[in-house]
Amino acid sequence: MRIFSGIQPTGRKHIGNYIGAIRGYLEGQERADPAIYCIVDLHATSVAYDPEALPGYVLDTTAMLLAAGLDPGRCILFRQSDVREHTELTWLLCSVTPCGDLQRMHQFKDKSEREQELVRTSLFLYPVLQAADILLYRSDEVPVGDDQRQHIELAREIARRFNSTYGEVLVEPKHVIPEVGARIMDLQDPSTKMSTSYGTDAGLIYIDDEPDDIRRKLARAETDSGREVVRGPDKPGISNLIEVMSVTRGAAPEDIEREFEGEGYGTFKNAVAEDVVGLLAPVRERYRELRPDEDGLERMLAEGAERARAIATPMLAEVRDVMGIGPKGAASPAVQRRG
Ligand code: TRP
Repeated sequence: MRIFSGIQPTGRKHIGNYIGAIRGYLEGQERADPAIYCIVDLHATSVAYDPEALPGYVLDTTAMLLAAGLDPGRCILFRQSDVREHTELTWLLCSVTPCGDLQRMHQFKDKSEREQELVRTSLFLYPVLQAADILLYRSDEVPVGDDQRQHIELAREIARRFNSTYGEVLVEPKHVIPEVGARIMDLQDPSTKMSTSYGTDAGLIYIDDEPDDIRRKLARAETDSGREVVRGPDKPGISNLIEVMSVTRGAAPEDIEREFEGEGYGTFKNAVAEDVVGLLAPVRERYRELRPDEDGLERMLAEGAERARAIATPMLAEVRDVMGIGPKGAASPAVQRRG
């Protein structure tokens, strides 16, 4: 069983990423054969970005994943652009991707509205590159947030259409959404998901935040009217903090509500802060150790890319072959399925 997931090289990762995605990655590396995790620097060029800063962001993300417990001995961790097969497969998959489907993608609509200068063609093609990431490894499971539902559905559709057009080569992946903590909300605006792209500093807890910053941000987190620690549609702020604590304690939300019955918001927020500080402290410390060793991180990514290529190269040869690209029968017989 193969697991594949991609993660954006946005500088700093926050607790929403940690809870919603990174913990699932750890679980995946125990279970899959192999688990493949890709830092998607090519996707980062689909909106305005800083070319000077991007290589460093990739290393930030790499060090963060390792600090959180990813083990290159038990998974494949690599940088997307190091494996050129991703871009070539993107183009080939365009041949079975309806334009109308891409126009209907929520993320494309949202992001293109927010873009100030230029809506890039790469933003339009973003979901096809994501499908290529996944399909290149014949991935069975794709653990990624609920906001990616439409993108994964499109990848499945592309696989189906490809297989019925050219022959059974691609595997339809299954979307796996983390159950708890899939939606950690912004502390200042609990109606929106915690996100580095659009949130403010005060609304996000970064994995490498100092304990005092964490305490301050949680003390100032937006709460709701009323004073009881219970979940409810009119209490998005408190509901969000209950969700966070249910993760840090591995407890059911009901148990947390019971524990804090009769206590005010202040006491509860302090308790959440101490939990979060405890959860993140070891990750922050390891990150501080790992991040300065850039050569070591680059070596590790290069090894990851080599292992990824060992799967991707024969796979792409097979796709080219069934599509009639290049000389006939160029894919090696070992990997040829039709014939
Ligand atoms: N679009 C994903 C996100 O923003 C990142 C991503 C790129 C991805 N390629 C992927 C996720 C392949 C899963 C599989 O979170």
